[in-house]
Amino acid sequence: MLKVNGIDCYYGKSHVLHQATLMVGKNALVGLVGRNGVGKTTTLKAIMGMVPPAQGEVQFLGASLSGLPSYKIPRQGIAYVPQGRHLFPKLTVMENLQIPIVQGELDPDKLEEIFGYFPRLKERLKQKAGTLSGGEQQMLAVGRALITKPKLILLDEPTEGLMPLLVSLISDTVQAINKRGTAILLVEQNLKTLKDICDRIYIMEKGAVVYEGTPAELEAAPEIQERYLSVKV
Ligand SMILES: Nc1ncnc2c1ncn2[C@@H]1O[C@H](COP(=O)(O)OP(=O)(O)OP(=O)(O)O)[C@@H](O)[C@H]1O
Ligand SMILES: [Mg+2]
Repeated sequence: MLKVNGIDCYYGKSHVLHQATLMVGKNALVGLVGRNGVGKTTTLKAIMGMVPPAQGEVQFLGASLSGLPSYKIPRQGIAYVPQGRHLFPKLTVMENLQIPIVQGELDPDKLEEIFGYFPRLKERLKQKAGTLSGGEQQMLAVGRALITKPKLILLDEPTEGLMPLLVSLISDTVQAINKRGTAILLVEQNLKTLKDICDRIYIMEKGAVVYEGTPAELEAAPEIQERYLSVKV
């Protein structure tokens, strides 16, 4: 479904991605992990056309996304939940959910699905997003990504800074969304979360993808975890 083929990205003269390559199959839940600053967020921004690759290509459903302006990429069926959530703090929960709708009305079934995952959002529809707790804001960010019925969701560290109970809620929900037929590329620092829910895991190091394996394969490779993630096994 999604193919990131040997992309190189720069911020000015700073060369950040080096031939980064990864794939997300139909209905797959794929993890992307790596230390701070290795280029995980940049990879997602490259897919969304926000940091266009200088070399290489991103393909989605068999078509190249190269040269497509970033505002057109969500219309291809890709939703993006950026790191740090990026909600509209002065708008209410409901208004934030309505933002992605360019034409037509909110699908009531989709709304009910979102409230099924996150009942707390339903209780806070008129509350300003900026006054929600960190966990509630993350719920809203994930909920908002569902509104356009994407085929693929890119999630950048959705559990960052949340307490363990909320980490489980978000990761269980990500898995439930995936089981309902949406492919997911999940960036996480928390290797355990990835091992629990992903089909496959990629590891990035210095702007390149250096490892790919199933959770079981990664589990059986403690030297990889230690070398790239400083995990003591
Ligand atoms: N807008 C920018 N301008 C210049 N350099 C940037 C910019 N954004 C990121 N970088 C640099 O690019 C590199 C990769 O950053 P990126 O945000 O992709 O890493 P990351 O793996 O997502 O890190 P983290 O785990 O901390 O979120 C880092 O060295 C970072 O400092
Ligand atoms: Mg990041």
